[in-house]
Amino acid sequence: MFRPSPPIRAYFLEKALGTPAKIYYKFEGNNTSGSHKLNSAIAQAYYAKAQGLKGVTTETGAGQWGTALSMACAFFGLDCRVFMVKCSYEQKPFRREVMRTYGASVTPSPSMTTEIGKKINAEHPGTTGSLGCAISEAVEAAVTNPGYRYVLGSVLNQVLLHQSIIGLEASKAFKKLGVKPDVIIGCAGGGSNLGGLISPFMGEKLRGEADYRFVAVEPASCPSLTRGRYAYDYCDTGRICPLAKMYTLGADYIPSASHAGGLRYHGMSSILSELYDQKLMEAVSVKQTDVFSAAQYFARTEGILPAPESSHAIRAAIDEAIKCRESGKEETILFGLTGTGYFDMTAYQAFNDHVMGDYIPTDDELEKSFAKLPQL
Ligand SMILES: Cc1ncc(COP(=O)(O)O)c(C=O)c1O
Repeated sequence: MFRPSPPIRAYFLEKALGTPAKIYYKFEGNNTSGSHKLNSAIAQAYYAKAQGLKGVTTETGAGQWGTALSMACAFFGLDCRVFMVKCSYEQKPFRREVMRTYGASVTPSPSMTTEIGKKINAEHPGTTGSLGCAISEAVEAAVTNPGYRYVLGSVLNQVLLHQSIIGLEASKAFKKLGVKPDVIIGCAGGGSNLGGLISPFMGEKLRGEADYRFVAVEPASCPSLTRGRYAYDYCDTGRICPLAKMYTLGADYIPSASHAGGLRYHGMSSILSELYDQKLMEAVSVKQTDVFSAAQYFARTEGILPAPESSHAIRAAIDEAIKCRESGKEETILFGLTGTGYFDMTAYQAFNDHVMGDYIPTDDELEKSFAKLPQL
């Protein structure tokens, strides 16, 4: 279903920018869940069913992962319980209804339905939640309900493996076209779409067969790679998950309620963290208003209304193409267009009304969070 997704040449965007660069994007938003998340949801629901489980629990930030998993669970006859980060739950009521239509139950997190949710609410009254909190709640819901397991939509190695379908298809299509990308760009929340997109190309680079530049794009409000620490940390705010070595802002860090809910995660995939640490991959952070101006430009030129998360990659691709215009370099740029933004119209409205803000954490704020990293 829905595969392969074609790599699309952004002729109209190139023309509008007046760049000699060739821009391609791999569009993953062409399924009903609206994002790349279905690639992993189908695999995880399949294995859950094969294992004889009754259902699964999960967290969702922007709502795309929850939607994809709800859809996959409907296909396999599994119950699906989703803890949705509170600010997304409030910003996107229709996302919730899509999940419920697929048969899932959706709870805003932090909730009062779990012990950890009650504790987080008591310690951070009025909090808008975070992926870290929602993960803790979903894990608790799984371990207290027989026949249920917790599944995660990003960060972990198996999720990057499922998402490697994006890179494998892209690599095959480019070989067929006789095109070699010079720079490959993706937004990075937990790192799954980017990890999947770059995997075959990174393999070639590591084996010395070809050279590519890889760029991870993250929000300035949640800059885990560009301003985080490379350390062992908890994957969740409730500190009940195992430790992972990763670039992190600290498991207690609660990012501002930005509109790119899928990128509001304190940590990063261990694989991408290692590649970044070894300088095999670059990272940039971009401000929310700059991201939405890129989203608007892309919608007006290419016609697709992009998800705010995906628009981080669009911003970086446009910036790269502008550099090519200035230098005259004819680079080939590939970026991952992970999804559509039809449920993000509150965010687009704030941008169109010029009331959107940019929150960038101070060094002091980050230091306070780093001080709570596990001391090993
Ligand atoms: C459309 C979209 N793009 C990107 C992401 C970021 O996740 P990841 O870094 O795992 O690809 C999300 C996560 O929710 C998303 O919904």
